[in-house]
Amino acid sequence: MFFSFKSITSWTLLLLLLMQFIPLSRLNPPSVSPMQAPNFIKSALKKSCYDCHSNETRWPAMAWIAPASWLASGIVTSGRNALNFSAWKNNKKREIRDVVSGRTAHQGLYYLWKPDAKLNVTETSSLLKWLE
Ligand code: HEC
Repeated sequence: MFFSFKSITSWTLLLLLLMQFIPLSRLNPPSVSPMQAPNFIKSALKKSCYDCHSNETRWPAMAWIAPASWLASGIVTSGRNALNFSAWKNNKKREIRDVVSGRTAHQGLYYLWKPDAKLNVTETSSLLKWLE
């Protein structure tokens, strides 16, 4: 056989090793105009949304290892582009309401992986009131 098991394994390992050298933007840039809100509102959003929608992302360990890191930085980049609480423009409140009220299932995999980040009933109702 042309490709032996051994050579496939070593090429794969080499490729995985080389992938680690591709630079990524896993940075938390400074907040430009952070959203102002009562503490309780802010901490609920921090717990549940800031990983993808702010410049205060808590990067998980796996975000340092390719190819998982590519996935993580891709999601955060598109999340920040859609909505960024660190560069708050006070728009999109309606869209946020839709997500918070659960009318659009949002990022199910993330909450499966991090069930603690889910909003509880009290947080959800306070957020909905604040967003009115
Ligand atoms: C795991 C990452 C992640 C988390 C956590 C997350 N989002 Fe998102 N969100 C995204 C991504 C990616 C997009 C852009 C693509 C899309 O619309 O699905 C997005 C889009 C949105 C939009 C749409 C903005 C628009 O332009 O219409 C809203 C609103 C939103 N998110 C609100 C929230 C709220 C509120 C929370 C917390 C309860 C939250 N998101 C948590 C990743 C995330």
